[in-house]
Formats: sequence, structure tokens, C-alpha cells
Amino acid sequence: MKKAAIFTLLITFLIGCQQENFLAQQTEKRETQHDYKEEPESFVQVEEEDEEQGEEGIEEEQENEQIDENKDNTLTVIDNPESVSLVVNKQRKLPDGFEPDDLVEANVPYHAAEGDPKRLIRKVAADALEDLFAAAKEDGLELVAVSGYRSYDRQKQIYEYNVETKGQDHADKFSAKPGTSEHQTGLAMDVASAALVAVLEQSFIETEEGQWLEDHAHEHGFIIRYPEGKEDITGYSYEPWHLRYVGKETATEIYQAQVTLEEYFGLYP
Ligand code: DAL
Ligand code: ZN
Repeated sequence: MKKAAIFTLLITFLIGCQQENFLAQQTEKRETQHDYKEEPESFVQVEEEDEEQGEEGIEEEQENEQIDENKDNTLTVIDNPESVSLVVNKQRKLPDGFEPDDLVEANVPYHAAEGDPKRLIRKVAADALEDLFAAAKEDGLELVAVSGYRSYDRQKQIYEYNVETKGQDHADKFSAKPGTSEHQTGLAMDVASAALVAVLEQSFIETEEGQWLEDHAHEHGFIIRYPEGKEDITGYSYEPWHLRYVGKETATEIYQAQVTLEEYFGLYP
């Protein structure tokens, strides 16, 4: 009798454990699915398509493929990576291992989970971004910050994934090779309209927020870094969402002269 009771208790305990395990697995599965859904598709297509790639795939790729962004030694390594006047582009890279040391989160609405490094931006640019968002709000517009700082390794994942899925030519129009992205400088932030956060693509300029940014970003120290019609100079397709902090004076001069950062600093041709 006693043995039977112990046996029954044991079985009940084992079934309980299995159920708990099953429930935990289901919860984990739901959370993972939720994460993927959070990333809007059109945004994913432009810059961050690797979000749907499993970690395993990325690691394998890193082992098998090394990008040498300066294999012909043709890129200039910039010597002022801390300056808000720095220029990185397809000809000019950051020094190896560069990481800004004053990254912070701005006090603005984000389309990225808490703790995500995408929310980071250098302090001077974070203050300016807060002013920019406040000014937009005063004009009745809701901006959302989508993607700021990216480490070298993160940019490498994005670039390699874009090459693999879209081909080299397409990837090179929208995605910088690691070591040459403004996102690694901590001075860039991709911004969208809160109502249309999934639209991080060229049609963003058709939204009121996109238009407002084009007209007012310079008043807060930002430029639209990859303007329309200047692809031959910047090396990238039009990105109305990509803001680069340069300070109010420079931003205003660039805005008034309608030039690129390359032209402003005499780096083109
Ligand atoms: N989309 C810009 C060019 C970058 O990848 O840094
Ligand atoms: Zn960007």
C-alpha cells in the first residue's frame, strides 16, 4: 500500500516535470517568434535582413569567409575617429578596433528593445537627437529611432548577409563594408515615422516626417548623409532615413550649399 502511494507520487511528480518543461519550451518558442515579427519586413530588406538568420549560420559564415575591406591597401585609414567632422566612406575607413567611448541611449522613442546596442549613439549626438525629436513633436510629428551604433562585427554580419541574399552589387548600394560604416562611429541614427516604422526605405521621404527631416535636420546638427542624386559621390543609394551628426554649423552650411559631406570637405573629386 505504502509502496503504491510512493509510486503514484513519483509518477505524478515526473508528469508534472514534463509538463513544466513543455510549457517552458512553448513560451520560449513564442518569444522567439515574437522577436522575429517585431522586425518590420521592409526595414529588414534594406539593412538588417540578417535578423532572420540563425546565429549558427552567422558563426559558420564568419569562420569560412573573411572580408578584407582593405586588401589592396587602397583605403585611407582616418586619424580623427573621435571628431564629429570625420568622413568615412568607401575610400576612408575607421582604424582597426575603433569603438566610441561615450555611447549612450538618447531619451527618444525607439524601435528596438531595451538594451539593444542599436539604441546607442555618442553623447553629443544623443543630446542633438533629443532636440530634433522634441522639435518634430512640436510640429505634430512622431519620429522613432530605429538603428544607431553598430560594432564592426555587427556590420560585418549585416554586410555579408546582404551580399549572400541580394548579391554584391545590391549590397554595396545600401550596406557599408565593416570598418567603413558611419554606424560604427556612433554619430549616425536611422530614423522613421512612428506611424510607419516599417518603412525604412526611400518612400520615407513621402511621409510628413521624412519631409520634415529633410527641411529641419540641419537645425539640430544632422545631415541627410546619402542624398538623392548624389550616389556617384557618396557611393550609396538615397537614404532619407540615415542621419549623421556633424554639429549645427557644418550641418547648416551643408544644407544651404546642398552638397555632400565629401564635397564639403573637398574630398570629391
Ligand atoms: N547604410 C549605410 C550605408 C551603412 O551600412 O552604413
Ligand atoms: Zn543608416
